[in-house]
Amino acid sequence: MFLCWCLSLVALIPLTTSTNPGVKVKLTAKGIEYGRQLAVASILQKLKTIKLDDMSGKVKVSPIGKVKYSLTNMKMVDVGLPTAALDLVPGTGVKLSIVNTYFRLEGNWRVKYLFVKDSGSFNLNANDISISTSLSIKTDQTGRPAVNSLDCGANVGKTSIHFKGGASWLYNLFSKYIDSAIRKAMQKQICPLVANAVSDLNNNLKTLNVLAKVDKFAEIEYSMVASPAVSKTSIDFGLKGEFYNIGKHQEPPFSPAVFSLPPQINNMLYIGVSSFTIESAAFVYNTAGALSLYITDDMIPQGFPIRLNTRAFGVFIPQVAKRFPGLMMKLLVKTVKTPVITFEPNNATVQSFASVTAYAIQPNATLTPLFVLNLDSSVSARVFVSGTRLAGAVTLNKMDLTLGTSYVGDFQVGSLDSIFQMVLKMVVIPRMNVQLAKGYPLPTLGKMKLVNTQLLVLKDYVMIGTDVQFTS
Ligand SMILES: *[C@@H]1O[C@H](CO)[C@@H](O)[C@H](O)[C@H]1NC(C)=O
Ligand SMILES: *[C@@H]1O[C@H](CO)[C@@H](O)[C@H](O)[C@H]1NC(C)=O
Repeated sequence: MFLCWCLSLVALIPLTTSTNPGVKVKLTAKGIEYGRQLAVASILQKLKTIKLDDMSGKVKVSPIGKVKYSLTNMKMVDVGLPTAALDLVPGTGVKLSIVNTYFRLEGNWRVKYLFVKDSGSFNLNANDISISTSLSIKTDQTGRPAVNSLDCGANVGKTSIHFKGGASWLYNLFSKYIDSAIRKAMQKQICPLVANAVSDLNNNLKTLNVLAKVDKFAEIEYSMVASPAVSKTSIDFGLKGEFYNIGKHQEPPFSPAVFSLPPQINNMLYIGVSSFTIESAAFVYNTAGALSLYITDDMIPQGFPIRLNTRAFGVFIPQVAKRFPGLMMKLLVKTVKTPVITFEPNNATVQSFASVTAYAIQPNATLTPLFVLNLDSSVSARVFVSGTRLAGAVTLNKMDLTLGTSYVGDFQVGSLDSIFQMVLKMVVIPRMNVQLAKGYPLPTLGKMKLVNTQLLVLKDYVMIGTDVQFTS
């Protein structure tokens, strides 16, 4: 029994550690309202394609007697869905209810009785059409959301017809024999067209960028970690939100903490990006060795008080000038472990742990190491949305320099402080900011545009509130 329990616990561990989302998305009532408008527009387009086959028959109409009739060329000329509601069904999905829908058709009529032939055109109005469908929202095998129609009902309440140039008995013919056939023919087509609109919606949902390329090193995974949670006021999606090395998905030695988006109503969509997501990026780039930079003298701005050569450094470390006279120098700055990202309210900070190796460049281009410094620094980050990407910019808070190894004997590391402050501020950070400004893709569907976007840094996550627009 104990063994069983242990085994089941072990089996659970990978599941429970991997299911916390790194990114959360909340669709608010305002977002649902936008969804309703899109749904109505889509169904409207579909309903315009309703086609009615020609109808004909031979019936007895009083007071004429036997009449042969036919209705041909029936065309839908107008469809309206004036009243539609999209309601959330907690735990399941949504229910779309459309009432007072109307169709207007035109066509031609023809009758033959006794020795008379008569014909003309007609207008047909179908009013009081109601359509209702319930949809579940789940995740598909690829981790994208998928909707499924649970039921659909359509009812065409009443129709009225106007025969242009026809005799009054035609109305009897219509109400007795034709009306119900037409209503049935319409009714039969509505739910399949709604299903068609649902399938279009699924095609759009399939455009969720579940694996979005960031650059040559990294991609970010946005698959859903569970089916969306539908409550009375919102639909909440939990996405993985994890950076990976392209091609090899190595898990970092940390996992997402639980966080939840506060109730919000002003924007359609709220996206919470956890510090885990950003830290998984730091893990990927650090592991890929991408967080390193060679600094040569030509990268040091003109007018900088010190150049990268042994004479200039000799002012602070005389042995450098003495043992390696007249040589240019080169620095290698690289992170030695994954930078730590901290989100506190209105405060995003990155702590990084790097080493700086200083080399003398020999005339034959060999690099001779002079010393290695430990450079721990803290930068403040400004995080912002650019298009559909999350980007950033950092400024130096503080820096701490200690000696790692010296190949030139003892020296005062403190004397190099202001040089390295300036190297960070004028060389390293501007280059980092060029990269950070490019940003990385947020979860998006198709050609989604973000508008009225704002961003807040909160404890352990960044919250983006935004409205969306779909352009086709
Ligand atoms: C921001 O947070 C960091 C680390 O959490 C802290 O050291 C720093 O003082 C904070 N800055 C401000 C302006 O609150
Ligand atoms: C390059 O020059 C240095 C210093 O003169 C010497 O120690 C080293 O062996 C040389 N390397 C090569 C590959 O010639």
